[in-house]
Amino acid sequence: MDKHVYELLNDQINKELYSAYLYMSFADYYEDEGLSGFANWYMIQAAEERDHALIFRKYLLDNGCSVKLKAIDQPDKTFSTYLEPLEAALEHEQYVTALINDIYGAAHDVKDYRTMKFLDWFIEEQLEEETNAEDMITKMKLFGTDAKALYDLDKEYQARAYSVPTPLAGE
Ligand code: FEO
Repeated sequence: MDKHVYELLNDQINKELYSAYLYMSFADYYEDEGLSGFANWYMIQAAEERDHALIFRKYLLDNGCSVKLKAIDQPDKTFSTYLEPLEAALEHEQYVTALINDIYGAAHDVKDYRTMKFLDWFIEEQLEEETNAEDMITKMKLFGTDAKALYDLDKEYQARAYSVPTPLAGE
């Protein structure tokens, strides 16, 4: 595998694990605020991000590449409104989308069609993640100031359940 493509893929394991860490910190914030549904939503998001890291890990190993795990940054955000983590999540997902696009671009430059095909799943996934993040912001803006509506929204997010992502199914 091309060295630059390899380094980007290996770094993405770290970025995805950081995403898991970041969303766990969002869950902690909502748990402290008594919004356990929002906390549940972000803990499942954290599990999905861990899975994303495992998908990159598996791809490298399947291609005979060694994995080099690096230190995970500390999430350092503090929040003063329920809306702020949701906006931070959208910003973060847009950043991750840019990272995925960068890897895709690097793979394209060296005609690494296998890696481009591998990344297709993540390109779809990023669209879904940005859409989810935008949807949560919209709902919070619409309903966040009404206690009963916020209670219902929290219940809706409590219902989110974990499922194994397709690339890891059968592992
Ligand atoms: Fe792994 Fe939320 O992107």
